[in-house]
Amino acid sequence: MKILVVGGGGFIGSHLLEEILKSCRDWHVTAIDISGNKISHLLTDENIDFFEIDIIRDSIEKYVKNCDVVLPLAAIASPAVYVTDPLRVFELDFEANLQIVKWAVKYEKRVIFPSTSEVYGMCEDEEFREDESNCVTGPICKQRWIYSCSKQMLDRIIYAHGLKNNLNYTLFRPFNWIGPKLDDISNPDNGSSRVVTQFLSNIIHGKDIKLVDGGNQIRSFTDISDAIAALIKIIKNENNCATQQIFNIGNPHNQVSIKNLAHEILELAKKYDAARSLAEKINIVEIEPHEYYGKGYQDVSRRVPFIKRAETLLRWKPVVPLKESLGKIMDSLFGANYLR
Ligand code: NAD
Ligand code: UGA
Repeated sequence: MKILVVGGGGFIGSHLLEEILKSCRDWHVTAIDISGNKISHLLTDENIDFFEIDIIRDSIEKYVKNCDVVLPLAAIASPAVYVTDPLRVFELDFEANLQIVKWAVKYEKRVIFPSTSEVYGMCEDEEFREDESNCVTGPICKQRWIYSCSKQMLDRIIYAHGLKNNLNYTLFRPFNWIGPKLDDISNPDNGSSRVVTQFLSNIIHGKDIKLVDGGNQIRSFTDISDAIAALIKIIKNENNCATQQIFNIGNPHNQVSIKNLAHEILELAKKYDAARSLAEKINIVEIEPHEYYGKGYQDVSRRVPFIKRAETLLRWKPVVPLKESLGKIMDSLFGANYLR
């Protein structure tokens, strides 16, 4: 199988490529990204080609034409940017990805597209279901929703191509996947990364952890190893189990409030020699959403996936508890000096 991974140098892409090169030796990967820093250790493998291309500036039509399956993973996925630069989010997350989908339709290629838990937005269901839950976003002045809308529109376009042109697609919806290399730990500015990296970056830089709006929001964090296991099953697509399906890929057992997450991360950090003295000085403080993100922000108060479909069709189950997942991330940052 010839697999094209656009955004292959990112968090999900880098973990996916590692797993493919380790366990799927009869696949060949072409990876495209504006940066190969996270995958530089993989690039001597004969089963991978890497091209440094900006997909907003340059066409990648020939790469889509030459693959069997394309995973368009390049996107802006940090909420602060949805608020500060919504048009850049639209340009990359929607327009550039739509072009890839159009080429996949043209050349009859399989598309495995990263939708997002964010398409459910402020849906109030206990658990979000792929075919039943409403997609609920806020008013236009709340620019945060441009990411959700961009992804939702692509979901709808891909779905429609499935019906009309028999496009072979799978939509997967990650629910807060976490792991080493999630985001850039070196920048502790407010909103510079997604929450787990942000809190760790705060600790490393001696800055207080900030709870937006009290931190009562719930998220369900999913370990990247569980997530990649699901993605590999989707790519393998045994007996067409993933064809024209939408899957929530998340871990409902790892639901936690952001406030409890902050305490858990801080307590765990104190168990590492390399982080203890820093962590002991950190306070957990509260901050208003508009102060942290600006006035275009609106939050999702509770986000929990219903995953029966992935369990049944993919025969997949997430198994890594949150604490273990956080431990793996901290091991990668602070060394394995954890006093277990
Ligand atoms: P990421 O930011 O780590 O990776 C995105 C990659 O795209 C980066 O390596 C970046 O350099 C690359 N990129 C950015 N602009 C580019 C351009 N113009 N041309 C080429 N490459 C470019 O994000 P991720 O967490 O790996 O997410 C991958 C996909 O999954 C995204 O579509 C994201 O919206 C979606 N997703 C991720 C999560 C999650 O939990 N990580 C949740 C929901 C959805
Ligand atoms: C994320 C991003 O939109 C995408 O990466 C992705 O598509 C999706 O959700 C997902 O991973 O499923 P969100 O979970 O809101 O959105 O983003 P985070 O930055 O990880 O924030 C989680 C929560 O922590 C939010 O309520 C945020 O306000 C809060 N937070 C974040 C704080 O309280 N303090 C901080 O310093 C940072």
